[in-house]
Amino acid sequence: MKKKEVVLSGIRATGKLHLGNYLGAMKFFAQLSQDDSKECFFFIANLHTLTTKTDPDDIKRDLKEIVLDYISIGIDPSIATIFAQSSVPETCELTWLLGCLTPVADLERMPHFKDKKDKKEALGEIVNSGLLTYPVLMAADILGPRANLVPVGEDQHPHVELARELARRFNTIYGETFPIPELLSGEAVRVPGLDGSGKMGKSDYNTIDLSDSPETVIKKISKAVTDPARQRRNDPGDPSVCNIYALHMLISSGQELAQVLEGCRTADIGCMNCKEILSKNIVNILSPIQQKRAELVDKGLDFPLEILNDGGERARKIIAETVEEVKDKMGVPMY
Ligand code: TYM
Repeated sequence: MKKKEVVLSGIRATGKLHLGNYLGAMKFFAQLSQDDSKECFFFIANLHTLTTKTDPDDIKRDLKEIVLDYISIGIDPSIATIFAQSSVPETCELTWLLGCLTPVADLERMPHFKDKKDKKEALGEIVNSGLLTYPVLMAADILGPRANLVPVGEDQHPHVELARELARRFNTIYGETFPIPELLSGEAVRVPGLDGSGKMGKSDYNTIDLSDSPETVIKKISKAVTDPARQRRNDPGDPSVCNIYALHMLISSGQELAQVLEGCRTADIGCMNCKEILSKNIVNILSPIQQKRAELVDKGLDFPLEILNDGGERARKIIAETVEEVKDKMGVPMY
């Protein structure tokens, strides 16, 4: 029997998930988990969360919420493995081992580090070393289960690229061990923020959350930034600079999308019409997810923990085997 391709991805436990998480990553999790030729691992990166959050209760709560989000978007936990990063201590061991192969300069160049460092320094907060070694932990997450495919949004691509480089370096020095993990083929997805900023992000108050009601979606979209040069209803717009059109391209399709494009250019439709169509399509994506989530909440507070116990055990077994092999190859087995 042909070996299944291993898919792995994760999400930090840092608050409510949003449309950026969904369109950039989770939508693909759901699709891949339904593909028989794939063995999927989806986890909650609660150790990565510690680089920016310190409240243990928040972290524990967000972890459980993400388990419910994973299942609500269509991941079946009896087929895919859902686990918490903290359930697999061997991943931290692998982080050290891979860290010894990672140039510091590569870590200092990472956009995520530079961005977070600048913000922390501006606020006078400590720039913790976890922010710097964040991508090495991420490489360990990926290489631990020997992942072949890593579905992530555009912002995470540099991190996956580092994991690829570490896999190659390890294989060259110690012999073939890791497959080179691939990103999803096709364009990298970056979902823009509602405020016109580059990216929809949890901490930027520019999101449509997966839990937003239809009324909230309509309200948030109606206030979202559009083509700044389109001041009056009859001014033709430029979809290529419009935030709302960027969202349409990710969400709407076919004739409706073509009509929005043409209608904006010719001023046939106004920004409010265009936003109404977008809101309707967003609500159509969110409604079934929210419905499923409401059913899961009825299962009680222990339900996410049961999933995590089960998934943690499955993931740990596989990852521990890799780490044992890696330690042996590097000359540092357990004596
Ligand atoms: P996190 O929690 O920041 O984001 C989770 C996923 O959502 C994607 N994403 C977006 N995609 C497109 N447009 C956006 N505006 C947008 N915002 C978020 C992210 O690209 C990501 O795929 N470091 C990771 C978690 C992680 C991980 C891993 C992922 C830890 N180890 C190993 C894959 C493999 C993170 O912070 O994701």
